[in-house]
Amino acid sequence: MKLITFALLILPTIFCEDENIQNDFLEWKNRFNKTYKNVEETEKAYKNFKFNKKIIDAGNEKFIKGEAYFHQSLNKFSDQLLHQRKRAMRGVATVTTGQSMMSGRSFGPPIKMTILKPGTFESAPLVWDWRRHNGVTPVKDQGYFCSGCWAFSGLGALESQYKKNYGKEYNFSEQQLIDCNRHEITGNWGCDGGNQASAYNYIGINGIELAETYPYKEELPHDDAYSCGFNSSRAVGQLSGYYRIRPGNETFLKEVVYYYGPVSFAFNGLLPTFAYYESGIYDDPNCVDGLSHSALIVGFGRVNIGGRIIDYWICKNSWSTDWGEDGYFKMVMGKNMCGLTRYLIAPKID
Ligand SMILES: *[C@@H]1O[C@H](CO)[C@@H](O)[C@H](O)[C@H]1NC(C)=O
Ligand SMILES: *[C@@H]1O[C@H](CO)[C@@H](O)[C@H](O)[C@H]1NC(C)=O
Ligand SMILES: *[C@@H]1O[C@H](CO)[C@@H](O)[C@H](O)[C@H]1NC(C)=O
Ligand SMILES: *[C@@H]1O[C@H](CO)[C@@H](O)[C@H](O)[C@H]1NC(C)=O
Repeated sequence: MKLITFALLILPTIFCEDENIQNDFLEWKNRFNKTYKNVEETEKAYKNFKFNKKIIDAGNEKFIKGEAYFHQSLNKFSDQLLHQRKRAMRGVATVTTGQSMMSGRSFGPPIKMTILKPGTFESAPLVWDWRRHNGVTPVKDQGYFCSGCWAFSGLGALESQYKKNYGKEYNFSEQQLIDCNRHEITGNWGCDGGNQASAYNYIGINGIELAETYPYKEELPHDDAYSCGFNSSRAVGQLSGYYRIRPGNETFLKEVVYYYGPVSFAFNGLLPTFAYYESGIYDDPNCVDGLSHSALIVGFGRVNIGGRIIDYWICKNSWSTDWGEDGYFKMVMGKNMCGLTRYLIAPKID
């Protein structure tokens, strides 16, 4: 047994169980280069860490017993509780249904929105992955403070269209959308959340710069944070309209992903099991419909686990490559998991 080297935590009695978890905490803290301002912050982080580790261990026990198909792990979020993490996790604002997404004023007339319905395409194969077909740009990192997932997801789909159709790899500017596509104008709230439909409408009217010329700042939202620095002579990206995909049909969604390309979607991304997802196929019966986060469906696949056939979606997240499967996650298909079929959207560039 190692001696307790946890000087900052002053605990009157140290139990063996605590000792192990303290060592786990120190190890984790070093691995993720976490520093805390003072003793209180360290103790709070440690308390949260213990709480989160219990959830992860319980989930992984299910995984070992074969009752779950995804593995969880400690990660960079493990010193925070759910409500503190919400900036990174949350980000789809005022998503209801259909036309209300189009509400809000804009600089010009709305660009063309087309609803894709079943019957549009032939049937899709069992397996498809746009990463293997030159259709996906690198995973980005929205950071901890800005609920800008709607911008990352929406631009991810636009980047995919440029890459798969023209072989061009662009990283478009999330910050431009956050600063310039604001609530007074479009119904979007910058780092307090937004939606892809009004983002596409904004891009269709104004164009979008590269992240290289208009970099991401990961700011805390505050009233005067958003000063728009868009320079139209630097705009590189454009779009001519966008598609909304008829909700609730995952067979059809496969066809859209295969024949059209990656699809931006909103889902419930607020569960701890999702925050600590490390690998496998995410399938949590507690993950009910409730749109809070956004990501990008880039493909789908099928596995046989102990005789059980499981179809899944391959999704690109915006929490950097140190989260999940190199920044990606798989989500079970056929259950409308976490409400994933409710808000589906893809840009049109020609
Ligand atoms: C922690 O810092 C070291 C040294 O600066 C670096 O090599 C490593 O990648 C960092 N780890 C994380 C998770 O940021
Ligand atoms: C779902 O989509 C599939 C494939 O396009 C189609 O055959 C089927 O009729 C659709 N189901 C409903 C209920 O619309
Ligand atoms: C896009 O951004 C990623 C990192 O976020 C970087 O690795 C890549 O080189 C960038 N691509 C271009 C074309 O700028
Ligand atoms: C806009 O971008 C162009 C091209 O990079 C540059 O020449 C011009 O100075 C910029 N305008 C402003 C106001 O920054």
